[in-house]
Amino acid sequence: MSKHNKQEMVVRHKLFDRICHWFIVAVGLVTFLTGFSFFYPSFQWLGAIAGTPQLAKFIHPIAGLLMCLPLMLMLVRYYHHNKWEKHDLAWMLAIKDVMFENEEKIPPIGHYNPGQKVLFRAFVLTSITLTVTGFIMWQPYFAPYFSATVVGWAIVLHAISALIMLMFVMVHFWMASWVEGSITGMLYGKVSKAWCRKHHPLMLDEHSDVEKH
Ligand code: HEM
Repeated sequence: MSKHNKQEMVVRHKLFDRICHWFIVAVGLVTFLTGFSFFYPSFQWLGAIAGTPQLAKFIHPIAGLLMCLPLMLMLVRYYHHNKWEKHDLAWMLAIKDVMFENEEKIPPIGHYNPGQKVLFRAFVLTSITLTVTGFIMWQPYFAPYFSATVVGWAIVLHAISALIMLMFVMVHFWMASWVEGSITGMLYGKVSKAWCRKHHPLMLDEHSDVEKH
């Protein structure tokens, strides 16, 4: 990359957050595969990543915690980027232009668009419910401290939260793939100023102190 291009780049994701994010993706894969292997007998093969069904049962809660704790940390670190702003409503009302990529008609937005902010809230809710219910149903360590009714409800809520999180992760993956340059931003940390002007124009104003390289 030439010196000129380098000056046009800004930092969007710090190294710590990128490590957190890709660690979450890696352990999240193990969590989801082992977790869904318990859903139906015909899904059991998904747990093969753990070796045996017994190992899948042992690994799942540990992988789940290793996914949810860094996720919560990342969500706390990204909270300030995900507050609702006045300009978000205008963007939502222009959702048709967003979908059809009528760029000149899309109202400017900041670091994240309202779609990403909705996903953020879904990740907050599901990571909390999965962790709390996961502890309540964790045999043989924590479940004996709760009544059978509480454990039963925890199992139902855990399954519903997992399905909701999976659905939102799929939307998240689709949105990330749709916006060219977004995945490289999460991989290498930087995006070009031209990218910001196109996808998140107000980001440059919000972060006038943004690190330049
Ligand atoms: C292979 C799957 C995934 C890909 C390709 C991916 C990609 C990305 C990208 C490109 C961004 C930055 C978006 C931007 O700069 O505008 C991002 C942000 C983020 N990702 Fe992922 N991601 C994946 C899976 C996950 C999973 C499984 C989780 C957690 C359940 C997750 C949680 C987050 C969070 C919390 C953010 C910050 C978003 C915000 O603050 O609103 N990602 N991801």
